[in-house]
Amino acid sequence: MWTLALWVFPLLCKFSLAVLPAKPENISCIFYFDKNMNCTWSPQEKIGDTNYTVRLTYSFGKLSFIKQVTNASCSFSRSYIIHPDICTVEVEAQNRDGSTKSDITSWNLDHIVKTEPPIILSVNPISRQMFQIWWKPREKIPIDPLRCTLRFRAVNSAHWKEVSFEDHNKVYNLTGLQVFTEYVIALRFRTNESRFWSNWSQEKNGVTMEEVPHILDLWRVVGPAGVEGTRKVVLLWKKAKGAPILERTLGYNIQYFAENSINLTEINNVTNQQYELLLTGQTHYVSVTSFNFLGQSQEAILRIPAAHEETIQCIRDMQAHLAEPLLVVEWESSIPEVDSWMVEWLPEMAESEFSALSWESVSHVTNWTIEQDKLKPFLCYNISVYPVLGQEVGQPCTIQAYAKEGVPSEGPRTRVENIGLKTATVVWEEIPKNRRMGFINNYTIFCQAEGEEEFSTTVNSQVLQYDLESLTRRTSYTVWVVANTGAGGTTGKTINFRTSSISVFEIILLTSLVGGGLLLLSIFTVTSGLKKPNRLTRLCCPDVPNPAESSLATWIGDDFKRKSSLKESDNPGSTEDRILKPCSIPADLIDKLVVNFENFLEVLSAEEARKGQESILGGEANEYVTSPSRPDCPPGGSFKRPPGNTHTQCLGTTEETYTEFTEQLLSSGQSPGPEPLSEERPPNPYLKNSVTTREFLVHGNIPEHTKREI
Ligand SMILES: *[C@@H]1O[C@H](CO)[C@@H](O)[C@H](O)[C@H]1NC(C)=O
Ligand SMILES: *[C@@H]1O[C@H](CO)[C@@H](O)[C@H](O)[C@H]1NC(C)=O
Ligand SMILES: *[C@@H]1O[C@H](CO)[C@@H](O)[C@H](O)[C@H]1NC(C)=O
Ligand SMILES: *[C@@H]1O[C@H](CO)[C@@H](O)[C@H](O)[C@H]1NC(C)=O
Ligand SMILES: *[C@@H]1O[C@H](CO)[C@@H](O)[C@H](O)[C@H]1NC(C)=O
Ligand SMILES: *[C@@H]1O[C@H](CO)[C@@H](O)[C@H](O)[C@H]1NC(C)=O
Ligand SMILES: *[C@@H]1O[C@H](CO)[C@@H](O)[C@H](O)[C@H]1NC(C)=O
Ligand SMILES: *[C@@H]1O[C@H](CO)[C@@H](O)[C@H](O)[C@H]1NC(C)=O
Ligand SMILES: *[C@@H]1O[C@H](CO)[C@@H](O)[C@H](O)[C@H]1NC(C)=O
Ligand SMILES: *[C@@H]1O[C@H](CO)[C@@H](O)[C@H](O)[C@H]1NC(C)=O
Ligand SMILES: *[C@@H]1O[C@H](CO)[C@@H](O)[C@H](O)[C@H]1NC(C)=O
Ligand SMILES: *[C@@H]1O[C@H](CO)[C@@H](O)[C@H](O)[C@H]1NC(C)=O
Repeated sequence: MWTLALWVFPLLCKFSLAVLPAKPENISCIFYFDKNMNCTWSPQEKIGDTNYTVRLTYSFGKLSFIKQVTNASCSFSRSYIIHPDICTVEVEAQNRDGSTKSDITSWNLDHIVKTEPPIILSVNPISRQMFQIWWKPREKIPIDPLRCTLRFRAVNSAHWKEVSFEDHNKVYNLTGLQVFTEYVIALRFRTNESRFWSNWSQEKNGVTMEEVPHILDLWRVVGPAGVEGTRKVVLLWKKAKGAPILERTLGYNIQYFAENSINLTEINNVTNQQYELLLTGQTHYVSVTSFNFLGQSQEAILRIPAAHEETIQCIRDMQAHLAEPLLVVEWESSIPEVDSWMVEWLPEMAESEFSALSWESVSHVTNWTIEQDKLKPFLCYNISVYPVLGQEVGQPCTIQAYAKEGVPSEGPRTRVENIGLKTATVVWEEIPKNRRMGFINNYTIFCQAEGEEEFSTTVNSQVLQYDLESLTRRTSYTVWVVANTGAGGTTGKTINFRTSSISVFEIILLTSLVGGGLLLLSIFTVTSGLKKPNRLTRLCCPDVPNPAESSLATWIGDDFKRKSSLKESDNPGSTEDRILKPCSIPADLIDKLVVNFENFLEVLSAEEARKGQESILGGEANEYVTSPSRPDCPPGGSFKRPPGNTHTQCLGTTEETYTEFTEQLLSSGQSPGPEPLSEERPPNPYLKNSVTTREFLVHGNIPEHTKREI
């Protein structure tokens, strides 16, 4: 049994190893016109050492040719393949074990002819919407008719359109195109009966004919009336929105005339897109046309109102906001008939209005949008909207907006004034416009006593000074001011100052007390000295005392300290002070008055200050932010004291408001002096705004329309 198995097994193996090659299938031949015929078949991949014998019959089966190849493709040269013909192809695959023959396939060269891509000779714009396309095949093809496919697209489009047609004279009229538009065109063809298209020809471009230019968009900038009522009017125009992109204009013609006048002024052949006119104060009508070699566009007409004419005014509630990625400006109209608007925008600080000005007309909506990217970031833009009713242009409404806000590039310039025993005024300047990078919404004032926690408060952008109250005398303080925009805050320079240790009143008081004592003493000495002459001589020629041992040194060093601390515990408005203090005019007297009114709000404002600080650190971005800049009420202006008021309102307040200049000079930017006495420490330093309240009163009558938003 085992011996039988051993004998059969190798036999089976030998039998199964003898594998015939696969039958060649799917034979496919292409007749490259005037060149050769290439045939391929499957399987394409090489299997072992299989090679093929290809048997061709040609000349309608009269002749035959055999070719040996190793790959599944075969090419027959033009010696055998001559159009017209019907050939047959048979493939025999061979390997060591034997051979397999394919079916015999028959090939009519007419059906499998493939030509070279054709040549487009010319693309002629015959009219505004048509090309006449001349073309030719590369070969001399005796076959007729030819089938063609033409594909075309506008240069700025990626989408091809195709038309198929039967060729007659190697010319084709391509119609249905757009006016004055550049197209890309390619062509392919095949013989009527062939199943193989040629490849696409090389692309060729053409531009359809232009037409008379479209009507222009016309705008103007009217300057102020001069001495003789003449005005500079700059006309600006551009291609209308829907006009063909390639429209080729040769020039522009301007005409204008004053109302009630027959004199028509013409300016021809302008090639710029703006023109400056000098018009009299009358109403004028201006028209601009553009022309190309075909003719002139329709007139764009604009009415320039008389110099002092009241034009329509109907825009209200204009506001701007960001809706990523757009800046949106919206407004309302009080005149429903007005349905057209002209939007003008330019950087606030633009030097030349005309070159920086952009403008665009808007119809049927009361909003306008622009991509934020099209505006420069951190730059304030003036955006004006004019109502347009027919040829008439009305009063604009203007707002300011930032396409993107940043933090100010520098902090407010800060200084400290009026340093008293317990008070000081922080004063800062507005940041220059080109450094703001956004609307300053508010300022946060930080104040920190040495070794204590800092306190902060936030005031609105109109406020440019702040009174610090309830400070501790003889203490070093650090203050700094942060200017906040929607994007964050920038800190100004920090300022160190030191509160006074002694007030002028106290000096006067002490001086008068000491002076009185000395007087009494001298009177006593004199009277007693008259009796005793030796004492008189000493009085007349006194010993020069050592200043170090003087009583004054003692006051300042020690006694005075005690005295001042004693006074500190008193009410600052004690009767003694009120009587003795000369009627000084504190520079910020009114502030102080308001402050006294506000005393009971101290705790509240301190808490708000802390809140303000938090929100600054949070840096929340607001979508709508009220702009601080109100051009018609310059910031800080409202804080100017009415002149004269300060004099009449002299009530003898006891606030110690004298600035101790020397102290300020010494302490600013220096390390703090000696520690104050422990009983002089404040129970709790407060920051109190004295200005906001007053500011409210002044701003109560600001017109609504000046409110700006972004
Ligand atoms: C031959 O072509 C037909 C259709 O194209 C396909 O289904 C078949 O698999 C092909 N045969 C081989 C062996 O490739
Ligand atoms: C056959 O095919 C192989 C790889 O597929 C290639 O390297 C070789 O050149 C081909 N030979 C011929 C004669 O086409
Ligand atoms: C036809 O086959 C030959 C030989 O394989 C090759 O050189 C030639 O490029 C082929 N022609 C085309 C158009 O593919
Ligand atoms: C065909 O294949 C055989 C082996 O199978 C090989 O000896 C022979 O050289 C091949 N012929 C050609 C023309 O490649
Ligand atoms: C193509 O247009 C030209 C000019 O309009 C015309 O003369 C010609 O007959 C047109 N040809 C065809 C095939 O319509
Ligand atoms: C073109 O070929 C089609 C079939 O593909 C045939 O019906 C038609 O008669 C042919 N036209 C001409 C003019 O030979
Ligand atoms: C036709 O196009 C194909 C693919 O783009 C390319 O491989 C082939 O060589 C081209 N044939 C001719 C005749 O240009
Ligand atoms: C018309 O223009 C001419 C020259 O520009 C001037 O002399 C004349 O006074 C003008 N007439 C009127 C009616 O404006
Ligand atoms: C416009 O100006 C150009 C060159 O300045 C000149 O050739 C052309 O004739 C002028 N056309 C008209 C209508 O004045
Ligand atoms: C922008 O508006 C502001 C305030 O209305 C004005 O001061 C400034 O001159 C304007 N800028 C320009 C370039 O018109
Ligand atoms: C502008 O107004 C139109 C019509 O009032 C409205 O459909 C559109 O949404 C508005 N666009 C924006 C950006 O608010
Ligand atoms: C100050 O402005 C910042 C940023 O614009 C804002 O987040 C914050 O709420 C404002 N603070 C107050 C107290 O108005």
